[in-house]
Amino acid sequence: MKIAALSARYWVLLTLPTIALIGFTAGCGGGSGSSSSSGLPLTKATLAQVSSGQAIVTSFGCTDCHNRGVDNTTDTNWMAGYIGAAGGTGSGAYNIGPFHTYAANLTPDTTTGIGRYSDQQIYNALKFGLDPAATPDVVITSTTPGQGNFPATPHYLAPPMPWPSIRHLSDTQLWQIVAYLKHGIKAVNNPVPASEGPPDFWASSYTTTAVGPVTITPYPSGNELYQP
Ligand code: HEC
Repeated sequence: MKIAALSARYWVLLTLPTIALIGFTAGCGGGSGSSSSSGLPLTKATLAQVSSGQAIVTSFGCTDCHNRGVDNTTDTNWMAGYIGAAGGTGSGAYNIGPFHTYAANLTPDTTTGIGRYSDQQIYNALKFGLDPAATPDVVITSTTPGQGNFPATPHYLAPPMPWPSIRHLSDTQLWQIVAYLKHGIKAVNNPVPASEGPPDFWASSYTTTAVGPVTITPYPSGNELYQP
């Protein structure tokens, strides 16, 4: 029941960006991976980046899926993702149509977690939804497949990973998340089953219309009212 509710909640997140998406053009949402301050991606993760990343990860609902719904950094499996066998149920296992998907192990473990990937690959996962296991370690400067290092045949992360919303965080914040997950928590060895997917690797779910930029209208508009 809880899993179904979670899935529904994040499917809403996934579809929200479709509301205001006219005018999506190549290059919009593209990130060079640059940062104005020291730390990732230019130098090693700083303690300030890591602690800012902790605040984001624990307040943006990442733990709903990647830590079995518990925001508790003393958990011995902190951020280790779904625990269980393929086809099993439990927190972090989802049925998306006929496919089973599983919340990934986000600890820096080098065999079962994101320690297998570069910092840039994790940034690319958060910013562009690209599966780090199937996307080269490159700086991406376009959102058009085949251009600016964006893969010609993108292999996107499976739902309900809400990257279409997460990617609207600033570059500074995205690198803080990377800093925390890759350089700020203990590695936990927890093999998570591979998510299943359609032959197009979810690409049809993420057309340019579905993942275009959020247009923020000048304040106030519509139902907004400033009442100091
Ligand atoms: C509603 C559930 C859900 C939420 C919330 C969620 N994720 Fe995920 N995430 C997933 C699933 C499921 C996958 C696995 C996708 C796949 O296997 O293709 C995943 C995969 C990832 C990956 C790729 C890891 C890898 O090894 O492939 C990263 C990085 C990630 N999530 C980070 C985050 C961060 C950071 C947050 C919070 C800002 C977050 N996720 C919130 C469900 C979620």
